[in-house]
Amino acid sequence: RNQKTLVMIKPDGVSGGYTSSIKKIIQDHGFRIVEELATELDEDSAKSFYAEHASRSFFSDLVLYMTSYTWISIFLSCIFTSGPVVVMVLEKDNAIADWRALIGPTDAKKAKISHPHSIRAMCGKDGEKNCVHGSDSTQSATREISFFFNNSSSGFVARHD
Ligand code: CMP
Repeated sequence: RNQKTLVMIKPDGVSGGYTSSIKKIIQDHGFRIVEELATELDEDSAKSFYAEHASRSFFSDLVLYMTSYTWISIFLSCIFTSGPVVVMVLEKDNAIADWRALIGPTDAKKAKISHPHSIRAMCGKDGEKNCVHGSDSTQSATREISFFFNNSSSGFVARHD
């Protein structure tokens, strides 16, 4: 069944120069890119996008990694490789599970061993800096797609250069 999923190339993926190789993998696997946005997340957007992880110990680190808006995170990005992201909506049969299979496990260190041909094995570093995101269910795909591409409900305002 035709399905949409939300994909994000995270700051380490963009700054590492992986955007075009990831887009080639996307096209080679039959996904259609139906929306695309190059933007940056501010602290509120990152907190709201990852709200389900708010109680986890890694949450503040995750928000720092994903943002680049404030002077402090721009400064810290020298160390933490934060910065712009590329957000896409991909469409094809079984898009959610097929994209998750392509990116491999959350922990890129483990992906390099267990899924050496996965996207996270190619461009991720560890359990946090894992280069790409993919929705994990139809519910999160719906929420995440409207977060970026339906401004009225999410309040996310894209920043264009
Ligand atoms: P993602 O698939 O985008 O969803 C949540 C993100 O939180 C995940 O990728 C990682 O970037 C980060 N994350 C998940 N688990 C951990 C962890 N144990 N330690 C640090 N970061 C994590």
